[in-house]
Amino acid sequence: MPATHAPDEQRLRGRIVAELARTRARTVALTEAVDDADLVRQHSALMSPLVWDLAHVGNQEELWLVRDVGGREPLRHDIDDLYDAFKQPRRDRPALPLLPPAEARRYVAEVRDKVHDLLEQVRFTDRPLLADGFAFGMIVQHEQQHDETMLATHQLRDGAPVLTAPPPPEPAARVADEVLVPAGPFTMGTSTDPWALDNERPAHTVELPAYAIDAAPVTNGAYRVFVADGGYDDPRWWTGAGWRHRTEAGLTAPLHWRRDGDGWAYRRFGRWSAVRDDEPVVHVGFHEAQAYATWAGRRLPTEAEWEKAARFDPVTGRSRRYPWGDEDPGPEHANLGQRHLWPAPVGAYPAGASPLGVHQLIGDVWEWTSSPFRGYPGFAAFPYREYSQVFFGDDHRVLRGGSFGTDRAACRGTFRNWDYPIRRQIFSGFRCARDATEAEARG
Ligand SMILES: [Fe+2]
Repeated sequence: MPATHAPDEQRLRGRIVAELARTRARTVALTEAVDDADLVRQHSALMSPLVWDLAHVGNQEELWLVRDVGGREPLRHDIDDLYDAFKQPRRDRPALPLLPPAEARRYVAEVRDKVHDLLEQVRFTDRPLLADGFAFGMIVQHEQQHDETMLATHQLRDGAPVLTAPPPPEPAARVADEVLVPAGPFTMGTSTDPWALDNERPAHTVELPAYAIDAAPVTNGAYRVFVADGGYDDPRWWTGAGWRHRTEAGLTAPLHWRRDGDGWAYRRFGRWSAVRDDEPVVHVGFHEAQAYATWAGRRLPTEAEWEKAARFDPVTGRSRRYPWGDEDPGPEHANLGQRHLWPAPVGAYPAGASPLGVHQLIGDVWEWTSSPFRGYPGFAAFPYREYSQVFFGDDHRVLRGGSFGTDRAACRGTFRNWDYPIRRQIFSGFRCARDATEAEARG
């Protein structure tokens, strides 16, 4: 029986329906861009076949929304193990008896029908999974995260290009080299953003000494100087673990780069072109970022330094949701959501700068920080330990800010991503920081 709902419940319901539809359109576009043979193929040992991501997205939606929130009978209890990311390492996924493409598409559509059905009846009560539609927001973000993963698979895929998008905007402002961030406390994390995930919570005060941070991500042009200076061949710039990895993996340049005469070319979704100097460098691992920073006489920012540069408003003392304010990202603010297929040149988003004058923190490239992934003081796992808590510790480094392939629903000033320091198939770059001098700190 359709219940009568308060207007704000109807608004929330409408927003959820729109976000689910927008997200599914992206998933469909990414999986319909290639043929069935390509969908079931493993394009890299680091990645799943695209058809695994597709059915996994539907399976998580079934587990959390249909079964848990809705209390409905399982559609396909038999496939839960196949699509459990913890039980099935990525390298083993192609050998599993996966649902073939047509069946996977049918399955995710059936799950979505059930979700629409239960959305008409659900009340957004105080139950933690339901308050502010959290479980629906979590599922939207989960699907968007897999869409970004599928985009990274497309980038690794051999063969003719299948994705197209207009180029990102050209620079519209001159950007300073670095910005001085004054010493003092700021609010890190959030207790109020309704769809923020457990690892972003709770809000807490962090006191930082003065520091300087790059006003933009490190560019290809700057990174090329490091390469030309023999940066990859000099163990002085690398940590012990970094040098070991650089040697074993034979790293000489960012992933997807190759020599092109005197210069460099990069491959982007199947097309080669000359490396453009004023774009943020992308496809570097943490070890490379750290080596570059050491070579440059600088260091990577901590996660707290990144977030203060992004959110802190020195006039009000408040932390904003995003560098530009509290409103959701628009196309004028940041290069997000796969509107473009690569990072925008530095200076392309003046409207997205933070109050301190730091540019392109959101979108373009995920930015490596020096911080291991840990829970904030007062952290509580929700809705399950496997979301974040099992990844806490020194094995992972935190990345911030989202990339051109990150959707706005899965990106906030507080949003935290994490990965192994050797990973670079993700859309990862970085910016540098340094301690303030005594004179700078005195102001
Ligand atoms: Fe997942």
